[in-house]
Amino acid sequence: MTVQLGKYFLTELSKKDETEIVRFFAHSADFARLTSGKSEPEEDFLTLINELPEGKNPADKIVFGLVDKSGKVLAVIDLLRDFPEDGEWMIGLLEILPELRGKGLGKELHTEIVAFAKKAGAKSLRIGVFLDNPQALKFWESLGYQTFKQVKLTFGEKNHETAVMRRKIW
Ligand SMILES: CC(C)(COP(=O)(O)OP(=O)(O)OC[C@H]1O[C@@H](n2cnc3c(N)ncnc32)[C@H](O)[C@@H]1OP(=O)(O)O)[C@@H](O)C(=O)NCCC(=O)NCCS
Repeated sequence: MTVQLGKYFLTELSKKDETEIVRFFAHSADFARLTSGKSEPEEDFLTLINELPEGKNPADKIVFGLVDKSGKVLAVIDLLRDFPEDGEWMIGLLEILPELRGKGLGKELHTEIVAFAKKAGAKSLRIGVFLDNPQALKFWESLGYQTFKQVKLTFGEKNHETAVMRRKIW
């Protein structure tokens, strides 16, 4: 799937986009530091493309990128279908280059995610949001997500109280 969003394109990414994805993570190091305490663009690329929870297979994971006409990656999104239960899709990551945040792009990308997931049969979307990422909490709340439980997650040396949020899309 490729959708034109203004002057950008939302398209599926894969291993072959390694160079541009690694560049994206190197440029967007603040979120990696918040998550794990360090920025490791190559590791983050491998995680984005390959990491799957037990029981899921590669066909369950869809990685999208917002790219410009030169192929530069401006945002990444990953979706996991029917996880942890049928009908619920998990947004693993939605991350935009720092200089493009706060301009409505996240909201636009979310509209596309909803349309895509709905068409493929999803009934609700789920996201885990660190409590130490208050701007992101505001973002998801503004889109109608509600916290239904809180869990502790560890990435590298960092522990995060994490709000697990959900929104019905059907
Ligand atoms: C979180 C993120 C995806 C949001 O995308 P964005 O393009 O910056 O957000 P938008 O401009 O579309 O904002 C939509 C709404 O979210 C809320 N919001 C977004 N950024 C906010 C901020 N810094 N502070 C408070 N509210 C904010 C507002 O309600 C906003 O609506 P408004 O502009 O009408 O007030 C983006 O900022 C990002 O990539 N952050 C770093 C990575 C990250 O934290 N990802 C989420 C992990 S759970």
